[in-house]
Parts: sequence; structure tokens; C-alpha cells
Amino acid sequence: MDLPLIVRQCTDQDLLALTEEEPAGAGVARRMLQRQRDGRVFFAAAWQGPVPLGTVVLDLHATYSPEMKNLFVNPTRRGEGVGTALCDWLEAKARTVGFDHIYLGVGKDNDRARGLYIRLGYRSIGESTSCTYNYVDEDGSTKTATELSDYYKKPLC
Ligand SMILES: CC(C)(COP(=O)(O)OP(=O)(O)OC[C@H]1O[C@@H](n2cnc3c(N)ncnc32)[C@H](O)[C@@H]1OP(=O)(O)O)[C@@H](O)C(=O)NCCC(=O)NCCS
Repeated sequence: MDLPLIVRQCTDQDLLALTEEEPAGAGVARRMLQRQRDGRVFFAAAWQGPVPLGTVVLDLHATYSPEMKNLFVNPTRRGEGVGTALCDWLEAKARTVGFDHIYLGVGKDNDRARGLYIRLGYRSIGESTSCTYNYVDEDGSTKTATELSDYYKKPLC
């Protein structure tokens, strides 16, 4: 029988399991846990037993704040509702700490994520920004990417 999917806030004890899912040297989980300790983000993961299937961040200090960022689901586990479960958890968390809305940015070409967000009730605010960032590829090399994102907002009621 499949283990249940559980979404919860990450702790420092999760670092090893989260790092095992990243390209070597990416350091994303380590950075997010540090930002969470600094009170800048909430960092959550969806777990099946000891295995993280996906992660998401709520940035409390973004230009459009709070902003859902870094939603990512293991490519072998997409289309099973993990992304939806992560968004649901983050919205509940945002509500609990007193926010009445969430923003997010979605890449112009990211039709799959855009479809998910629209289904969940996010709507365009008519703003776009360009974001340049470094990331570690699956082969371990550092790459730079520039992404043009449209901003969306969902009221939390
Ligand atoms: C975008 C992303 C997070 C979605 O995650 P996911 O786990 O596949 O999301 P869900 O399964 O909840 O929903 C995706 C689709 O699967 C369908 N689905 C949901 N539960 C399902 C299930 N149990 N069985 C089959 N399909 C299901 C949904 O209807 C949904 O369809 P939609 O695309 O028309 O909305 C994932 O594709 C990803 O990690 N992409 C790369 C990173 C990225 O682009 N992140 C977003 C940055 S803005």
C-alpha cells in the first residue's frame, strides 16, 4: 500500500533528505533553511515516508509579498496532485499567519504551472518582471538563466 502524502514545514533535520534530491552542489535546501531561520520564508515539502516529492517556499519579503516561489515536484511524480497539495498547504499557512492574499510569478512559457495556478484561483495582475538567476544543472555545472514572469494574485478568504 502507498504511504500517504504529507505536506509540512521543513526543519534542519530534513536537510540530508532534501539535499539528496538536488543536483550535487546546488545547496537550495540549505539556503532555504537558513532563510527560514532568519524569518524571511516558510519552506515546506511534500513527503511520502522519508522521501521528499516536492518543495515550495513562501517569501515574506518579496517585491510582491508574500510570494509563492520555487514550487517544484520531482519529474517522475508530476500529475499526481503533489503540486496542488503544496499550494494548498502554503495558502493555509499564509492565512494562519494573517495574510489575505498570495502573489506568484510564472514564466511566460510555463503553460503547465500557469494552468495549475489558474485552476487554483490565481489571476493575472497585469505585471511582468525579468529575473536572472544561477542554478546547478543535473550534470553539476552552474548555468545562468533569465526568465520573464507574469505576476498572479489569489485572495485568501
Ligand atoms: C508545475 C508543477 C509544480 C506541477 O506539479 P504537479 O505535482 O504535476 O501538479 P498537480 O499534479 O497538482 O497538477 C498538475 C496537473 O495534474 C493533474 N492532476 C492532479 N492530480 C492528479 C492525479 N491524482 N492524477 C493525475 N493527474 C492529476 C491536475 O489536473 C493538473 O492538471 P493541470 O495542469 O491542467 O492543472 C510541476 O510540473 C513542476 O515541478 N514543474 C517544474 C517547476 C515549475 O515549473 N514550477 C513552477 C514555477 S512558477
